[in-house]
Amino acid sequence: MALFSSTTRAVPEEIGPVPRHIAIIMDGNGRWAKKRLMPRVFGHKKGVETLRDVVRACDELGVRFVTVFAFSSENWRRPPDEVSFLMGLFLQALQTEVEKMKRNNIRLKIIGDRARFSPELVMLIEAAEAGTAGNDGLTLTVAADYGGRWDIMNATRQLLAANPACATSLTEEDLAPYLAMAYAPEPDLFIRTGGEQRISNFLIWQLAYTELYFTDLAWPDFDRTALLQALSWYQGRERRFGRISEQLSSEAPDQA
Ligand code: IPE
Ligand code: IPE
Ligand code: MG
Repeated sequence: MALFSSTTRAVPEEIGPVPRHIAIIMDGNGRWAKKRLMPRVFGHKKGVETLRDVVRACDELGVRFVTVFAFSSENWRRPPDEVSFLMGLFLQALQTEVEKMKRNNIRLKIIGDRARFSPELVMLIEAAEAGTAGNDGLTLTVAADYGGRWDIMNATRQLLAANPACATSLTEEDLAPYLAMAYAPEPDLFIRTGGEQRISNFLIWQLAYTELYFTDLAWPDFDRTALLQALSWYQGRERRFGRISEQLSSEAPDQA
């Protein structure tokens, strides 16, 4: 009998050259605009265009899941004008982009706490998710009022409400279905633009074994070339999931 049980859950069955799931912190919009002597919100507007291009490029490259951080639980601390601009931009993007997503076979998911959103925004989110639910192409997840700690606490509360008796015996596998991204494999590649090297309370559970890539480019400047650079960096990584290099060449990836 093995002394320790192997943690095969974090080891994907198949690791291809193209990440199945890319998680992105789209950072640097405000500084990008400031550098151009424009108001910060101009950078956010430009950022929506960048997102459209990056999603299209990922789709063409065969990436199945793209998850982007659009608004963190902590971003409510920003000046009220910027917060309401961002809420307006989100609303507007839902109104204009969803029809295109339907045509392009993209499934849209929104994760995060919706309690502080306006009823109109919540309605649009629900309609966008329902309207694209049948699409089987790339899944775009937008994290809005999302925080990794919120996600873990929310999942824990839901698990305990459904199974009050498991409080003393719960496992990682018990919690996983209640996490916001239970429908997707864990991210293979994480990209943060804007020069900061931190997670800022993004998918803290799900990023446990993700390759982390940071670039100084501001999000509005992140383009197809920059994406290909990140992918080529990713392809040079050796993903060991706790094992040693020699095991990888002699064993199938799902054998710990
Ligand atoms: C990221 O860009 C977008 C959001 C957080 C909504 P920032 O607004 O954080 O831009 P910087 O980091 O201030 O340049
Ligand atoms: C993280 O960016 C959140 C989003 C991109 C939505 P921030 O710019 O808010 O992160 P910090 O505050 O610099 O860590
Ligand atoms: Mg920032």
